[in-house]
Amino acid sequence: MPASADPLASLRAQAHDCRACGLAATRTNVVFGVGAPAADLMFVGEGPGEQEDLSGEPFVGRAGRLLTSLIEGIGLTRDDVYIANVVKCRPPGNRNPAPEEIAACAPFLEQQLDLIRPRVVVTLGNFATKLLLDTKVGITKLRGERYPYRDGVLIPVLHPSAVLRNGGAALAQARADFVVIKRALADA
Ligand code: URA
Repeated sequence: MPASADPLASLRAQAHDCRACGLAATRTNVVFGVGAPAADLMFVGEGPGEQEDLSGEPFVGRAGRLLTSLIEGIGLTRDDVYIANVVKCRPPGNRNPAPEEIAACAPFLEQQLDLIRPRVVVTLGNFATKLLLDTKVGITKLRGERYPYRDGVLIPVLHPSAVLRNGGAALAQARADFVVIKRALADA
């Protein structure tokens, strides 16, 4: 299908040319998103790290390997789901994305959600959760519950990088939250 007939491919092409914020100057690649274009389950992370910036694919570094294993733990593969980020370009040194960078990039995420129409959206960590649920409440309070969102539900979970940093108990929480995701998919 030519990009012009495939709205997600057209959106990807627009993102690749985007210069709406300062991150365009330091990126190697725009990390638009990967996976099934009509996925029932979509993950939204924070922003690309070094490995993602180099490869152009989200969640391919250490945190990505943990995310992949959590996805496989509920009987799915990365090809079954869609994975994207709040910001599509790497903040230098992996600093937090700035409010103006998030605002500049948000229309891409909104249009990805419009086109993919996932029944279950999983926000990974605080940045995605705060943006999509429009809340100031932190991830540790919100995680592992279903919240009504668009035509389905949104489930905030700990960011895989936080799970790697905090180890044991955080990993158990992440596994429990993925069981919630699996149940939500069965109900979707
Ligand atoms: N962390 C994120 O939030 N996104 C990625 O793509 C990789 C690491």
